[in-house]
Amino acid sequence: MDKRKKSKIELIALREKINYHNYRYYILDDPEITDAEYDRLFRRLVEIENRYPELVVTESPSQRVGAPVEGGFKTVKHSIPMLSLENGFSDKEVKEFEDRIKRLLIRRMRTNYISYTVEPKMDGIAIELIYDNSILKTASTRGDGYTGEDITSNIKTIKSIPLRLFPPGYNQDLPEHLEVRGEVYMEIKAFQQLNKEREKQGEAPFANPRNAAAGSVRQLDPHITARRPLLFFSYGIGEVSGWTFTSHIELLTTLNKWGLRVNTGYIKECKSIDEAITHCRYLESIKHDLPYEIDGAVIKVNSIDLQKALGEKSRSPRWALAYKFEPTQATTRIVKIDVQVGRTGALTPVAHLEQIRVGGVRISRATLHNQEEVERKDIREGDTVIVQRAGDVIPEVVKVIKAKRTGKEKLFIMPDRCPVCGSELVPPGDEVVLRCSNPGCSAQVTGGIKHFVSKDAMDIDGLGDKLVDQLVIKGLVKDSADIYHLSLEDLIALDKMAEKSANNILNAIKESKKTTLAKFIYSLGIRHVGEHVAMVLAKQFREFDNLQKATREDLLSIQEIGPEIADSILSYFSNEENLSFINHLFEAGITIEEMPLEKAPLKEHPFSGKSFVLTGTLSTLTRSEVKKFIEEKKGKVSTSISTKTDYLVLGKSPGSKLVKAKDLGAHILNEEEFLRMLGEG
Ligand code: IVH
Repeated sequence: MDKRKKSKIELIALREKINYHNYRYYILDDPEITDAEYDRLFRRLVEIENRYPELVVTESPSQRVGAPVEGGFKTVKHSIPMLSLENGFSDKEVKEFEDRIKRLLIRRMRTNYISYTVEPKMDGIAIELIYDNSILKTASTRGDGYTGEDITSNIKTIKSIPLRLFPPGYNQDLPEHLEVRGEVYMEIKAFQQLNKEREKQGEAPFANPRNAAAGSVRQLDPHITARRPLLFFSYGIGEVSGWTFTSHIELLTTLNKWGLRVNTGYIKECKSIDEAITHCRYLESIKHDLPYEIDGAVIKVNSIDLQKALGEKSRSPRWALAYKFEPTQATTRIVKIDVQVGRTGALTPVAHLEQIRVGGVRISRATLHNQEEVERKDIREGDTVIVQRAGDVIPEVVKVIKAKRTGKEKLFIMPDRCPVCGSELVPPGDEVVLRCSNPGCSAQVTGGIKHFVSKDAMDIDGLGDKLVDQLVIKGLVKDSADIYHLSLEDLIALDKMAEKSANNILNAIKESKKTTLAKFIYSLGIRHVGEHVAMVLAKQFREFDNLQKATREDLLSIQEIGPEIADSILSYFSNEENLSFINHLFEAGITIEEMPLEKAPLKEHPFSGKSFVLTGTLSTLTRSEVKKFIEEKKGKVSTSISTKTDYLVLGKSPGSKLVKAKDLGAHILNEEEFLRMLGEG
């Protein structure tokens, strides 16, 4: 078969596939493939169509911009099409983007100087808002780019979308007609909460915050939308009457001044494509710290004149590029499900996967959390699944692709005894987790020791998981205190252990004896006492003895300690075995550095000792009030940003301080966050 014919067949299959996945994604809000896989299919389709333009048919997915319009809503025609964005997956593709537009601009505008703006690419749903004489008249989805659905009643329930352009008493002109474009999205915490509630009601959970946002704005009953925690950021406009902007950044600042939410904290003006790439990478590096999901950054030519000169292709403008981040989801198959016993005895079902790369890392296992989760997601051995890896968090299974089932998949049921020691399990009370009832269970013992030696605990360098396993199996170490009695001979007798490494380990063990109170508390592995709580306890009690003697009231009087943590601490210290373990540790020579006094004030306000700078205007507080509040809490207010600035309080229409603050790494607080922190402590 000749090449063209082969491509034609491939193209037909691709069209079918993409149309099917469009339907799953846009109509059912229930995708079966990851975004990255969808992008790959689409790119392949475009690649073939570019090679053989005569094979492009009108119903090809490349010939439309977005989702098909579904029945149930009235339709709205967009006066200017709502385009999509071209994707770039590497620095090379970003450079090629710049080369392309520079060539065009030299020809069309006799210039090749371009500055850019870079903004987070919100992972939500694109909408358009039409304001006539400052009043929100119509809101619509992007639909197929030309015609969208009229979702005005739903959108009106979203509090961060002004029904009337801002602000009362604003006495400058506002455009008679304004079409604002932006993204409706849901924060991750709100999405998780929503899913929890849906499960309680027996409804299917949403796969991700974007599906939840899309499903929410396309509800036929606005009362349902009203209960969904939706937010909005604007990033552009359609038609606007009587107004011209010279740059994209000016456009965004103006929208913000008019009362529309703009993601000001993370948008940056960049003088060169390299600076733009740097900001994209920066956004990628902090993406897990953001309260919402972003799947890339959008690079836009800043000058509106240059944007106009570049124009657009059928699907996307030539002046913008979506810099897509490494995907964090991938599709693979579950080979086997087994159960792990952790240091607290908790039984966790774990899926063993056909190895796959996600975000540049190979993964072969994913946690299934607990039996309830396995049942809820209906996960079976042999299933094809979408897995997700977010930051340092353990990979997890997002959903099962049921269409891939063959009937040979096996249901998974939790064992009724501990798979490691055979002991009975403690039936879950309020918790969903099953636990092994035997504190001497070797899985619990080794888990506890691995925790004890880990970096944030006693930090014994060189004592990795495999060595700990060997030490326990050989009976050399029965609890963490035994580590301090290991000899050179003990270590040399282990597999693959040279004298030099053995000596290094002994040295690391010796060095670990001098530790801080917080690390020591954390290393004990008391349930619910993670690193942060350990630090809170250390600051409060200052000496280990004081913590050990603390009463329930003492513990509960600490702001961050609730009844669950308090009871867990009390029960730990009332156990004879734990007390004798602690004695052994001190006998082995553990010494705890004294907490310096100034670092351990009782209940310190988060503003205390911090340096603040203010920019822009806040809507509920005046500058002098803000200053007074900060100073009351023993913080300092300065007028200019320096490396010493801890926080920038960000109001509307911020000045150049914002960029500088970000460059110097200050934390940015918006009004809401400022007020929340002020209320703490
Ligand atoms: S600009 C003509 N800016 O990404 C330019 N889009 O395919 C149109 N998106 O569905 C888009 N954040 O909803 C732009 N800061 C941002 C964005 C953004 C998210 C979405 C947009 C569209 C998709 C692009």
